[in-house]
Amino acid sequence: MPAKIKVAILISGLGSNMEALIKDLKNQNHLGEATIVVSDNPDALGLMKAEQLKIPAFSFATNSKTLDKSIFENNLLQLLISNNIQVVCLAGFMKILSSKFIKDFPGEILNIHPSILPSIKGLNTHERAIRRNLHVHGATVHKVTEKLDSGFILGQTTISIHKNDTPHSLSKRLKPKENQLYVDTLRQFLSGNSKVIQKLELDS
Ligand code: GAR
Repeated sequence: MPAKIKVAILISGLGSNMEALIKDLKNQNHLGEATIVVSDNPDALGLMKAEQLKIPAFSFATNSKTLDKSIFENNLLQLLISNNIQVVCLAGFMKILSSKFIKDFPGEILNIHPSILPSIKGLNTHERAIRRNLHVHGATVHKVTEKLDSGFILGQTTISIHKNDTPHSLSKRLKPKENQLYVDTLRQFLSGNSKVIQKLELDS
């Protein structure tokens, strides 16, 4: 059996994508293993879930004056390197990583973003999709590069936007699809298959 690829998952909040990834990474046939979870928010609910799933979880607060972003990134980089992390999955991690960090980290960094990129980069994607009167919304897993939400697209999933949808209802309907997309895309990425995953079926 070849050694498993060491995966770290970075979160800021609930951690539903993290949970889906960890559960799948626990399968024996997975090429990767969930090694650590890191949060920039010590109160992130996902940290508790990670502990329940028996994955070492760390948090480095970034909102105090004594711990600014570069200190956070240095701590994070040291932790990733000392754990031999090869792939980082951003899973609802809301801090924008600096170009320096992205260059310095020797492995790959993936992200899940709640829109059909390249449309609707940045924050408040559900609200903006509704305001634009779009009929289709979705999520994208992509490689992280220095340009925000612009790296190579690895997988996408879509949902319909209904007449009475709110940002909350869209988020609720999209989450399970995001979770499955991230699981499938990470598996495919680790296998070296560069085919883009497109789950383009719309719900009714
Ligand atoms: C997800 O919807 C993810 O796509 C989004 O945050 C949510 C985290 O949910 N990510 C971003 O907006 C990144 N820009 P989770 O904590 O339940 O996985």
